[in-house]
Amino acid sequence: MSALTGQHILLGITGGIAAYKIPELIRRLKDEGAQVRVVLTRGGEAFVTPMTLQAVSGEEVHSELLDTQAEAGMGHIELAKWADVVMIAPASANTLARLAHGFADDLLSTVCLATSAPLLLAPAMNQQMWQHPAVQANMTQLIARGVRAIGPESGSQACGDVGAGRMSEPHQIKAFIIEQLQGSTDKPLEGVHLTITAGPTREAIDPVRYISNHSSGKMGFALAQAAAKHGAKVTLIAGPVDLPTPFGVNRIDVESARDMLDAALAQPCDIFIGCAAVADYRVVNVAEHKMKKTAQTDAPTLELVENPDILKTIAGQDMPPMCVGFAAETRDVETYAMDKLKRKNLALIIANDVSNNDIGFNSEENAVVVLSTNDRVVFEQQTKASLAHQLTRYIASHFHKNFRK
Ligand code: C5P
Repeated sequence: MSALTGQHILLGITGGIAAYKIPELIRRLKDEGAQVRVVLTRGGEAFVTPMTLQAVSGEEVHSELLDTQAEAGMGHIELAKWADVVMIAPASANTLARLAHGFADDLLSTVCLATSAPLLLAPAMNQQMWQHPAVQANMTQLIARGVRAIGPESGSQACGDVGAGRMSEPHQIKAFIIEQLQGSTDKPLEGVHLTITAGPTREAIDPVRYISNHSSGKMGFALAQAAAKHGAKVTLIAGPVDLPTPFGVNRIDVESARDMLDAALAQPCDIFIGCAAVADYRVVNVAEHKMKKTAQTDAPTLELVENPDILKTIAGQDMPPMCVGFAAETRDVETYAMDKLKRKNLALIIANDVSNNDIGFNSEENAVVVLSTNDRVVFEQQTKASLAHQLTRYIASHFHKNFRK
């Protein structure tokens, strides 16, 4: 059996000179046993002909969104469902922007919205364009959403420039697709119930004001997505955040720490990950009506009371799940993390240094150290999506070694 036997690869080709290399990619994918169907954009058509692509793929090439014939046969929904993976190569700057913003005005962008298959990109463009903050911001947004990319590579470009922007070579793209498909079929958390808390909590002062923090929820959402991809049945208990629900995840929205605890207690699970930045205190007497500023009285004093520790409560149950905590610290990171691991009776603690502005709280990237009573593993700085993937695999292996006999 070849590496891609029986796999359906939907190849999107967009406008870039590197499109001339795609017929070779198609041949290599077919040699591995894949079935390849092509969606060609208007820009792509300028660089490679439908006739060539049809000849090498052995399939009709698709380019129209609103085509009565196509909609009756392989329309956008059928193509989206057919695909095991969508690979866009070359992915132009225009395509990255359109994907980042969810456009659906041509066949390729529509298929990308309609599919649940993983989306892979091989960006290619002039090096100056690739460096542009707009392009970088679009890439960051796509990666944070779980899209994976290969390249671009550095070297001499068709336009005469030298720099990063060349599309990765067909053999590299083929290896990348194989790696991604094998990763997604390997499900070490199959049948495992996993609950994760994410985001901040909000503690009311009065009907319009609250105490909260800067947690974006991105790390917890990325972990929920990665765990679902690895086969877990995931419940994500989310504080107020502005993030889309990861595919295949059951999401419960909450506001306060006490709501979060109630939701967590109601979800029996095998693995519990406390990723939320839970407010340590709440206001004792929440005002029933909006508090007024009055000239006569002194500034009001808020009386606070400690919130329940959600993670400690879950870990302290009679038959606790494997509990994983986060320790966001600004100094003595590992000492404080180890203390939390023991105090809260956790299996693992994921420690990060939030004094570094490039990582943690509101950024797209993170770097962490994972500690247990007998192990210490460093995960270098990378996107939260890729870190979540690695952490999930580590958590799964710890679970199988120590909790599931
Ligand atoms: O706040 P602290 O640094 O002690 O948080 C460490 C871990 O405990 C985090 O994983 C956080 O999600 C969890 N936690 C919790 N409930 C709290 C406070 C923290 O679940 N009230």
